[in-house]
Amino acid sequence: METISLPTPTSPIGIFDSGVGGLSVLRHIHAQLPQEHLLYFADSGFAPYGDKPEHVVAERSLAIAAFLVARGAKALVVACNTATVAAISLIRQHYPDLPIVGVEPGLKPAAAASRNGKVGVLATESTLAGAKFLQLREQVALAGKIEFLLQGCTGLADQIELGELDSAATTAMLERYIVPLLDQGADTLVLGCTHYPFVTASIGAIVRAATDREVALIDTGDAVARQLARLLTAAACGNPGSQGPARIEGFTSASATALSVAFSSLLGINAPVSEVELAGKSLAQVNLDI
Ligand code: DGL
Repeated sequence: METISLPTPTSPIGIFDSGVGGLSVLRHIHAQLPQEHLLYFADSGFAPYGDKPEHVVAERSLAIAAFLVARGAKALVVACNTATVAAISLIRQHYPDLPIVGVEPGLKPAAAASRNGKVGVLATESTLAGAKFLQLREQVALAGKIEFLLQGCTGLADQIELGELDSAATTAMLERYIVPLLDQGADTLVLGCTHYPFVTASIGAIVRAATDREVALIDTGDAVARQLARLLTAAACGNPGSQGPARIEGFTSASATALSVAFSSLLGINAPVSEVELAGKSLAQVNLDI
């Protein structure tokens, strides 16, 4: 277990993802908790996580969590479904006193929203194969007689990393993944990867062209921000906001320019960004440390 200096209510919240996808979660956190300082780490040099073995994603996630904690983070948000599956229990074991929030595909809200019980789930292959996801799917399917139609979206997060939100290649890929779900009757689509909320306009256009059905899109960014707010209140470490405006700072394992551009084009935020090289620990080392 690591020794950390005690954070204070004015300490920042650390948020991370394999790349720019977690900005879709940061957007909700900033909207709900505008007084909180935020540190965002995009592991774009190692993206995508979805095609990497679980232990590699776990090692990267732990190294990033350690970096954010060393920068004074008072809470952590794993703004990535794939990293949540691979690493959230390890991160919780490592930092038992910190409020930590993960992201998982919104199967429960989707089950509640669906009128015909057919829900399509778009996510990375590794999220869909993770034990955590399979358990959740079983639970929700049994409770509500819901049929989940799973669709691994290889390559989609990479297109969004490249900023290709509505290029012909991204649209063709989205059609290939979504139209078969609509053909099978899905009336609700879960965005089970934090990159995907950035292509909701294209998804909406594909849905309208393919069916007359009303199709709900489920994104959990808002629920994650609410859970974070609850944990901060419970730990009495919310920022009272009396010390001026919130600071948002970015870190990346790839190009600082690319992350700055993502902040401004995806969120309209100008944030200072630094490039960081992380020395990852092997999982064996990490287990010895705990
Ligand atoms: N944004 C990530 C997620 O929510 C993953 C994308 C990737 O790196 O494959 O799963």
